[in-house]
Amino acid sequence: MRTKKLTFLITSGPTREYLDPVRYLSNASSGKMGCALAMAAHRQGHRVIFVTGPAVHASPRGARIVTVISARDMFRQVKKWLPQADIVIGAAAVSDYRPRSVSARKIKKSGVDCTLSLVENPDIIGFVGTHKSRAVVVGFALETADATKRAQKKLFKKNLDLIVANGPRSLDSAKTSACIIGRNGLVARREKITKSLLAGEIVHESLRLHKNNFAD
Ligand code: C5P
Repeated sequence: MRTKKLTFLITSGPTREYLDPVRYLSNASSGKMGCALAMAAHRQGHRVIFVTGPAVHASPRGARIVTVISARDMFRQVKKWLPQADIVIGAAAVSDYRPRSVSARKIKKSGVDCTLSLVENPDIIGFVGTHKSRAVVVGFALETADATKRAQKKLFKKNLDLIVANGPRSLDSAKTSACIIGRNGLVARREKITKSLLAGEIVHESLRLHKNNFAD
């Protein structure tokens, strides 16, 4: 029997936090994982809304592409599309902080050290987790130590249904090692598999959870 067509809302890529017209804070996320997730969902006949920061990896075909720059832009777009989403996957490497102020002109060097003041950005997937009604919410946790334990803590703190824990070597690489963790514990541990294969497993598990939680 064919499964019902659902809508996936997927965040992907890095965000950019400008401090002046030419400089920004960001990270090395390529957008490969988000793209692989979008393609896996699309391949199975589902609708995909793909909210992406400025990524080097090409956007997935068949998805509705929503481009953003900063974490706050991404947050606005996620809130806009959220009511349509059955499954939300936060694969974006969102900047946790942004400069307190943005200079309208290029900041000049002055011959002395200076300090950048930062403020926290909104936690997008955390917001989705705590405001969800009939959606399955999946997050990622990139950890440099104690990945599984920290990811599990994050899953409950952000009220997620599933979390994927991986290490910094996943950034901008074709393969990854990861643990998929649900509210009842470990679902799968995968070593050095392609992001495409991992994406297939995440999509499969999120669809299974959606069916279990919201069968009607
Ligand atoms: O708390 P941490 O940044 O480790 O959580 C990672 C997860 O949270 C990822 O799914 C990421 O997309 C999401 N996130 C977010 N908004 C932020 C920070 C992280 O959606 N400001």
